[in-house]
Amino acid sequence: MAPRLPVLRTVPALRRAITRFRTAGEKIALVPTMGALHEGHLSLVRLARRRAHRVIVSIFVNPAQFAPHEDFATYPRPFDADLAALAGTGIDLVWAPGGDVMYPPGFATRIVPEGPAQAGLEDAFRPHFFAGVAVVVGKLLIQCTPDIAVFGEKDYQQLKVITRLAKDLDLPVQIVGAPIRRDKDGLALSSRNAYLSAEQRRIAPTLYHALKDCAERIARGELIARVLDEGGAAIERAGFALDYLEARHADTLAKIESVKDGPIRLLAAARLGKTRLIDNVGVGASRSAS
Ligand code: PAJ
Repeated sequence: MAPRLPVLRTVPALRRAITRFRTAGEKIALVPTMGALHEGHLSLVRLARRRAHRVIVSIFVNPAQFAPHEDFATYPRPFDADLAALAGTGIDLVWAPGGDVMYPPGFATRIVPEGPAQAGLEDAFRPHFFAGVAVVVGKLLIQCTPDIAVFGEKDYQQLKVITRLAKDLDLPVQIVGAPIRRDKDGLALSSRNAYLSAEQRRIAPTLYHALKDCAERIARGELIARVLDEGGAAIERAGFALDYLEARHADTLAKIESVKDGPIRLLAAARLGKTRLIDNVGVGASRSAS
């Protein structure tokens, strides 16, 4: 039988493990997650495995990044299935702190990210979100002191916010972005896809197909504003309520009007019933493997 994957729940236990890795001169990678692991998360783990000697996966459903009306209470927490999914991946330990470890009584520190966290995308619809992400990711990076930390392009704005955070706070870590993993029909894998009804699941890939169609038209030289108007209309016709569909500079997330303004990323968020889906694609040469 394979040895059980160590699950650590206290900072001193984590520090002891990390000291052992460091003493042996080993490079450490961290993959932060909220659990409910799917193939998207596992692709990050595999990337981390190729880039470091030791891989830590954190599992923590972070209350600070959910607004009171959001799904913190119902967010899926299949911890045993997550451990089973990780067992064959060759990782070294799971960091699974409780809420009392991450936010002990008296916790009173905030990190308020600006720049890409104020791009008018996710932040416009989830104003609490990036401050919550910044504090938890800041803590995870300080607790685990990884050489690299891997984040998915699925949460493209989050990846940019965290890259900026690490730079601004001089955290000695390289933030690595990983391409989006999708189901066969194009739907980006997400723990929240489990909320979709059969009918909503049938409609859901339209978001990606509309994004891809817009990207191809923009790459061919069509007017960005018109393409996005028509793309947004197609997403709504499919049954979504559209939060945004935008063309942004792929690095800075600044608004963009023409392909000449730089590498472009198209980003969208839309709701099917109560479930909110986000997705993004690159345009032309800035397209990633996703
Ligand atoms: P979570 O939604 O669990 O995602 C963990 C990581 O997996 C993120 O970096 C996310 O971008 C990546 N990911 C999710 N779906 C993916 C897909 N289909 N393809 C590639 N990567 C994918 O994002 C969070 O958790 C939290 O905000 C966190 C960073 C852990 C802070 O709490």
